[in-house]
Amino acid sequence: MTKLSVNINKFATLRNSRGGNNPDVVKAAIDAQQFGADGITLHPRPDERHIRYDDVRQIKKIITTELNIEGNCDEQKFIDLVLEIKPNQVTLVPDNQDQLTSDHGWDTIKHKNYLTEKISVFKKSGIRVSIFVDPILEMIEGAAIVGADRIELYTEAFAKEFAAGEKQKAVEPYLKAAQLSKQLGLGLNAGHDLDLSNLKFLKQTITWLDEVSIGHALICDSLYLGFENSIQLYKRALQ
Ligand code: PXP
Repeated sequence: MTKLSVNINKFATLRNSRGGNNPDVVKAAIDAQQFGADGITLHPRPDERHIRYDDVRQIKKIITTELNIEGNCDEQKFIDLVLEIKPNQVTLVPDNQDQLTSDHGWDTIKHKNYLTEKISVFKKSGIRVSIFVDPILEMIEGAAIVGADRIELYTEAFAKEFAAGEKQKAVEPYLKAAQLSKQLGLGLNAGHDLDLSNLKFLKQTITWLDEVSIGHALICDSLYLGFENSIQLYKRALQ
């Protein structure tokens, strides 16, 4: 089974655009769970421009499904939050402070010592660690060396080529990366730009995916189809 972790940051973006508490992100997390999400993903950024650190605390208190916190482990504030909350999983991304969204994976060779140290801090606390990587075989080997439990394949390139009609070419590097991660005993997540057009094909090609983390497209679809319906459609694409 491939788990669907719903990234609800966009609820916070909408809320923050007007002040107040509409939409309520805590309610969004409860609803996502009730509508069938297997997990909730939160990505607090240092400037708290969407999910705030305190949202993470509130959401952790009420959800029973898996919690995945994504973020940049360069920030001590982020590390402290994750160690306090103890989510099921932390996904480490090499984002810069002011980045609009994650746009590259880790260089696991260049940052070998850094990642080894950071990952061990979370693992000592019993938190599963996933690291965001491009589908480059050396980076996957490096992920195993630095001690990650899982990798999250950065799927933007797949989504772009898929949309251009090059389905098989789009998925090929991801399939090779997924096969290697399996050989190395790494769990496998995927995320970024996954949507209702490309998700089913990805899942059918890489059947052993553990989890996908989806935000933007699912929330956009919810505007037209409703949140519950959208979650159900994404779940169906993963069957
Ligand atoms: N995975 C990571 C590491 C991300 O940074 C994001 C975006 O916040 C996602 C997955 C989800 O991407 P999308 O919003 O395009 O579904």
